Amino acid sequence: MRNYTVAVVGATGAVGQTMLKILEERNFPVGKLVPLASSRSAGQQVTFKNQSFTIQETRPEAFNGVDLALFSAGTDISRQLAPEAVKRGAVVVDNSNAFRMNPEVPLIVPEVNPEAIKDHKGLIANPNCSTIQMLVVLKPLHDRAKIKRVVVSTYQAVSGTGLEAIAELNEQCKQVLAGQQVQPSVYPYQIAFNVLPHIDVFDSTGYSLEEWKMTRETKKVMGADIAVTATTVRVPVYYSHSEAVNIETEYKLSPEEARRVLEAAPGVSVVDDPSKLQYPLPIMATGRDEVFVGRIREDFTIDHGLNLWIVADNVRKGAALNAVQVAELIVNKGLL
Ligand code: A2P
Repeated sequence: MRNYTVAVVGATGAVGQTMLKILEERNFPVGKLVPLASSRSAGQQVTFKNQSFTIQETRPEAFNGVDLALFSAGTDISRQLAPEAVKRGAVVVDNSNAFRMNPEVPLIVPEVNPEAIKDHKGLIANPNCSTIQMLVVLKPLHDRAKIKRVVVSTYQAVSGTGLEAIAELNEQCKQVLAGQQVQPSVYPYQIAFNVLPHIDVFDSTGYSLEEWKMTRETKKVMGADIAVTATTVRVPVYYSHSEAVNIETEYKLSPEEARRVLEAAPGVSVVDDPSKLQYPLPIMATGRDEVFVGRIREDFTIDHGLNLWIVADNVRKGAALNAVQVAELIVNKGLL
């Protein structure tokens, strides 16, 4: 099998470091690794498959000779440099919000819409972390009973914001427990022992961009006019997002049948026995590849409704793993 020159943009970040780990774990055919970050990190070393590689600054020339580039350094860097990478012949899998809704760019969750990748023009986008884990679970239910409407509330971990946010939660926990004053910096308010109903920027509708991402991306990935209304919330958890999801379906779907469908679904693990205190937890999902679902129960307020609790590692399935799975799809379909 051919080996590829693979660039990871944001290689020092929470997602980038996990991308390196997952490329290694899954034995992706990396011939040469090109780890990229900001000028601040240039010259530092990263270890990949027991070999040391030097981090370079992310500049257009860094993509010369690169076959595949995984971007996770924020929307601005993707906007500026992903087209430069494509111009130089690389296929880009972008984890940012920069290109997701561009009709020329496939938005892929491999368990949901792998076929959409064939139309790529050099750029492929990863959906938002909260959207990915929700859709891995909703797709098989939609295929069975046709989902019309979704009401979702998220409980999102600070790792989604990046390494600085992980450090901020750590620091604030210590400060609060020591009875010291907290100085928020990454978030507008204290995140330790608190909950912030605010992820990304608000617009004139009163919704946040994170909430709109769930609404818009669901329609694009599922290829269906499913109505999604979301409330996205940051909680003082390090890793793994949780979601309380209510669905209304066209056809009747009992909790038992939903459980059977989900037990057979790719990438899903059903943990659902409340009588034995079995339900998904962030600490259970962290470091794992599956999306966990439980608390599957009927919504008695409507004719065809279910409530679900969905948890997944936001840095893995919500970002790095999904990007590597997309890369595997590109290679396996001969699209590189
Ligand atoms: P660096 O460590 O050099 O700042 P996180 O999401 O964990 O905060 O990580 C963000 C990632 O994006 C890091 O790898 C960071 O690199 C990278 N990054 C930030 N700013 C730039 C930039 N201007 N050019 C390239 N990479 C950047």
